[in-house]
Amino acid sequence: MVEPKILIVYASRTGNTEKLAQAIAEGARSAGGVGVELKRAGDTKPIDANADAFAFGSYSAFEYMAGELKTVFEDFYHVRDKLTGKPVLIFTTGKGGQVSVIESIDKVVGVFNPDWVKPGVAVEGMPEEADKAKAREMGRKLAEAAKKKAK
Ligand SMILES: Cc1cc2nc3c(=O)[nH]c(=O)nc-3n(C[C@H](O)[C@H](O)[C@H](O)COP(=O)(O)O)c2cc1C
Repeated sequence: MVEPKILIVYASRTGNTEKLAQAIAEGARSAGGVGVELKRAGDTKPIDANADAFAFGSYSAFEYMAGELKTVFEDFYHVRDKLTGKPVLIFTTGKGGQVSVIESIDKVVGVFNPDWVKPGVAVEGMPEEADKAKAREMGRKLAEAAKKKAK
């Protein structure tokens, strides 16, 4: 069996969301038997839609996802069938507006009919140890979902 590949795409300006992305990656790796790649939204290309499972994360920008993450989804639109049925987890940070960002990503990615891994992870400010533990737990669940699909 080929190892399923998990792609973690994130938008982060000051590092908060990046820390959350790294904790999700740690959790996913801890499950074993998966490949995990972290990518900034700005470096993500339509070919990246070939991964087997995804985590998408952003800081809150005016209570919405960052523009660079929305661009990823606009780029994925013409290959959206590639995301259908694949496990997807969402994560966000903000200064109070992090939950509305979860909702914004949920609404857009919902168009692709993924297999949601919920709840998403929404954190205020820099993730603390308890936030990172939650992120690791959800990363592990994402990896387990990816492995189940690969069977
Ligand atoms: C352009 C811009 C707009 C923002 N708008 C909001 C907002 O509407 N609501 C909110 O809670 N935080 C807002 N923030 C704060 C960031 O979302 C927050 O500090 C976040 O944790 C930063 O994540 P990062 O370190 O990954 O960049 C904004 C930040 C920027 C740069």
